[in-house]
Amino acid sequence: MKFIKRETLKQKPDFNQLVFGKYMTDYMLEMDWDNGAWGEMTIKPYADFSLSPASMVLHYGQGIFEGAKAFKNEEGKITLFRIDANLNRMNKSAIRMSMPTFDVEQVKKGIEQLVSIEKDWIPVGEGKALYLRPTMIATEPTIGVKTCMHFKFYCICCPVASYLTGINSLCKIMIEDKYVRACVGGTGEAKCVGNYGASFLAMEEAKKKGYNQVLWLDVNHKYVEEVGTMNVMYVINGEVVTPALSGSILHGINRDSAITLLRGKGYTVREEYTDIADLLKAVKDGSLTEMFGVGTAAIVSPVGVLGYEGKDYEIGGNKVGPVSKLLFEEMMGIQRGKLPDKYGWVTEIKQ
Ligand code: COI
Repeated sequence: MKFIKRETLKQKPDFNQLVFGKYMTDYMLEMDWDNGAWGEMTIKPYADFSLSPASMVLHYGQGIFEGAKAFKNEEGKITLFRIDANLNRMNKSAIRMSMPTFDVEQVKKGIEQLVSIEKDWIPVGEGKALYLRPTMIATEPTIGVKTCMHFKFYCICCPVASYLTGINSLCKIMIEDKYVRACVGGTGEAKCVGNYGASFLAMEEAKKKGYNQVLWLDVNHKYVEEVGTMNVMYVINGEVVTPALSGSILHGINRDSAITLLRGKGYTVREEYTDIADLLKAVKDGSLTEMFGVGTAAIVSPVGVLGYEGKDYEIGGNKVGPVSKLLFEEMMGIQRGKLPDKYGWVTEIKQ
């Protein structure tokens, strides 16, 4: 591992006024893949890098990323949450996008070192973390549609608070009935750049109508899929339901954490296909009492209003419900070292 030191460190932002993803830290991790092998990993000053305008990622969207988090608690203990799960998922995305995989243990060590160097950038407080963005792009400069021979892996970091409204307020979500995010057999399961680029138009249209995000349905506009920046869950007659991993939904790591934690607390959690008509019926007859999104960035984000075909439907009196609250507290507790790490999700960073 190579380390290139900066001359001067950057001015840090006010950790009480964080805008998600705006402030990058002092360093980044980088590693290039050329003709069949990864080169040495380097931690270097965060800076622009030069890229040929013909780089394949720019033309063909061969790019993948992850979202992981490092936490610091009031006692100064620094931890990574489920970093192995993130890196393993990245390797799966790499396979789907015809990109090289990497050694998870080696990259994990690099990330641990990066987080340790950036420890003063980790904000302390509920919902706050150092967000890590491991990314891989196809850098070979060619317009030919061919197997790429040069890739760059890098990881950048930024101090963040919760991505959406946080646990104490509610989002307004519009059910998307025009566009689709993904289809089975496509790239919906992979965390690849194109999935997100293709979602912006729907999101902007929803925002203009006063919603925070859209709820994607499947290609036939029948079954509930995900929000795009988070997986969704709802409480119907006291049981928790989340869309089954159909092949076009991201295998959310916080989705998996939420299922495990809720089952551990005695809840029945069902992974199944939900027809949007049934979901709306349950909202209208009051059997659906809570809905929330789960994601690394979003943590647990309660949904207070669902919009569909020009009408708004309130969920649970537009109040934060007990299941979302419990889940948020459990996640925060484990991530911030206040609750035991029963499931082996936490990696402590030695300082
Ligand atoms: C995450 O939850 O980490 C994501 O990648 C979602 C979003 C910020 C793109």
